[in-house]
Amino acid sequence: MNYDLEYVLDSALDGVFIVASDHRLVLFNRACEELYNISREDVVDKACWKLSDFQQTLDNISNKSGKISYGELGAKTERMVLTHKEGRKVWVETIYTPIFDKESGEIAYVMGVIKDITELKRMEDEKDRLQKELVTIRSELESKYDFSSIVGNSPKIIQALKLASQVAPQNTTVMLVGESGTGKELLAKAIHYNSRRASRPFVALNCSAFPDTLFESELFGYEKGAFTGADKSKPGKIALASGGTLFLDEVTSMSPSTQVKILRVIQEREYEPLGAVRSKSADIRILAATNKQLEPLVKEGTFREDLYYRLFVYPIELPPLRERIGDLPELIESLLKKFHHAMGKSILGISSEALEVLMKYHWPGNVRELQNVIERMMILCKEDRIEVSDLPGYLMDSARMRPYYSQTTGELAEGRSLEDLIHEYERGLMLRALQQCGNNKTKAAHLLGLTRSTFRYKLSKFSPDVSLRAGAGQSRIKNN
Ligand SMILES: Nc1ncnc2c1ncn2[C@@H]1O[C@H](COP(=O)(O)OP(=O)(O)OP(=O)(O)O)[C@@H](O)[C@H]1O
Ligand SMILES: [Mg+2]
Repeated sequence: MNYDLEYVLDSALDGVFIVASDHRLVLFNRACEELYNISREDVVDKACWKLSDFQQTLDNISNKSGKISYGELGAKTERMVLTHKEGRKVWVETIYTPIFDKESGEIAYVMGVIKDITELKRMEDEKDRLQKELVTIRSELESKYDFSSIVGNSPKIIQALKLASQVAPQNTTVMLVGESGTGKELLAKAIHYNSRRASRPFVALNCSAFPDTLFESELFGYEKGAFTGADKSKPGKIALASGGTLFLDEVTSMSPSTQVKILRVIQEREYEPLGAVRSKSADIRILAATNKQLEPLVKEGTFREDLYYRLFVYPIELPPLRERIGDLPELIESLLKKFHHAMGKSILGISSEALEVLMKYHWPGNVRELQNVIERMMILCKEDRIEVSDLPGYLMDSARMRPYYSQTTGELAEGRSLEDLIHEYERGLMLRALQQCGNNKTKAAHLLGLTRSTFRYKLSKFSPDVSLRAGAGQSRIKNN
């Protein structure tokens, strides 16, 4: 070793050491001294450097092919933690290189280069942690948005689920049609998480949430300098959803110019970010939703016919809650469980009288409205069962008035006898009395001038209670 080489190696930031074939350490640079916190005088020519592990690799390779190539040795790296002379723990990686004797061709020396990889290790550990977290979140999402998370057994919801599960694995554009709160976004997510795109993003964009120009920059993104204030480029939802699914909510709100651009994305799978010179390809599956009927909009010319046909490849209709009111007990059970987990408050069920009121209501806000009502009742409910007295007043009024005339036309309902209607009226009044008297049956009976036993008898003709019973760790609907 000449002085110059040692000088150069001492200036290196990486640790460099050289071990002779008889295992004697012959060079140990300054960085090595710092990393190992040992002075070179104590080790050079004295220590046999810890090459036992490495020696085995040498032997293995030598036995196989005789001469060792750089590639075979280059792959032999070693990681360990050292205590730097400044006292901090340092993760290092050593890469070994053989130095061959010119004449004999045998290995004369092995050079080790030690790199400080503390920062790299921190980043790798962080990446591992994030990857594990991603796996957990993904499996949580997959189970949260599994088709089984969509509650209901009525024929219309079963039909919607059947159609959705059949189309999920394909790349087909799906149009979800249904009133507000019927579960369009929930079903869109279930389709995505049951598709081949499940590991890629699900990105939702509400077409009514932005004015026209903003909407286009949200959807397509923009390049730096595309407009005043665009000081850096920004990816649009199409780019963010790349490889995954783009959910276009409330598609009827798109302006005519956006409709043309969306049509191009669907047809050509291409789009241009604002200010871009070249088109980009759009690797997305489109799911769309509307709570309005599209046909009349096509007829009056506000919605493009060609786009309509592109989007209506595979329509799925989600029924309003009032058309599947039989699903109400099951929905209530699942919501009570959901809020039980979220709030830590346990409500075992709902009384027959309260359920009767909920069954009669017409639920214009559908499952979302039901969810809000249940959440509110969970907060207000003092006992472990929801009673009529916990219900909001407007539900009571609706339950009382609904049997007599249509909510929309105001006309008397057909096919109801006077006797039937009087019974309904009577029941409505009894429920109202119960609510007013904080569910106290004696007081309610007194209010209506009835004995308690007559009041109870009339009430017993109502539908059965819905209760959540925690039996053997499970809860289920039970009739009382
Ligand atoms: N069948 C169902 N089972 C369980 N929860 C449901 C069901 N349908 C809807 N929900 C719940 O109701 C709420 C509203 O659903 P979602 O947002 O999917 O409705 P939407 O049709 O997209 O409404 P909007 O048109 O107002 O956007 C969500 O919290 C969703 O989880
Ligand atoms: Mg929605």
